[in-house]
Amino acid sequence: MKRLMMAASVGALGCMALPAMAADDIDALTGEAGALIQSFSGTLQGELRAAIQAGGPVNAISVCNEKAPAIAAAASADSAWTIGRSSHKLRSPDNAPDAYTAAAIEDFVAREAAGEAAETLAKAEIVEENGTRVFRMVKAIPTGEACLNCHGGDEVKPDVVARLAELYPDDMARGFALGQMRGVFTLTKVLD
Ligand code: HEC
Repeated sequence: MKRLMMAASVGALGCMALPAMAADDIDALTGEAGALIQSFSGTLQGELRAAIQAGGPVNAISVCNEKAPAIAAAASADSAWTIGRSSHKLRSPDNAPDAYTAAAIEDFVAREAAGEAAETLAKAEIVEENGTRVFRMVKAIPTGEACLNCHGGDEVKPDVVARLAELYPDDMARGFALGQMRGVFTLTKVLD
């Protein structure tokens, strides 16, 4: 049912790829997007590591909960970019994908199931959304070792399980294994 609704909203949005754009533009924009992802994920992982060291994974929940949105906002401040995270197995409903991201995630999930490695899954193009030209990029995030503290299966500690249940009653983001696609970075740059 959910899947059907997503498919319907993709159609309604009327995303249109514009293949006439120069490949150079896409390359340059993809480079900018890559730098933003590096900065966002580097800061986030640094904060996570420090918080886990200071008080265990339960202490670090607030980094993802409160700091991740703030770090994302800072990474795209004063620019035409926005960056966020989403997933096929959401923890927070605030990270629900827009139609474009949902379609990319669906594609990545199918490709991963067919044997492609999560770390290689990415998509970048210029599209028109509601009459505006935008660059869109979606890149899969593989599950790393540290992520298992809060997104793994049985290895997630009871205090973490309890805190997550309090904060995210509809949490789907558990049971991931090393290397599996945990979710995606999704970036948008308004071009005109
Ligand atoms: C200390 C616990 C913790 C650790 C460690 C952790 N996460 Fe999360 N993760 C969370 C919480 C809490 C949220 C919900 C954040 C929010 O409210 O926006 C979240 C959300 C996410 C999301 C956004 C989509 C969603 O489901 O809401 C992604 C993607 C994600 N985490 C990936 C990772 C990756 C990759 C790692 C390892 C590098 C990682 N996380 C490590 C707790 C954690």
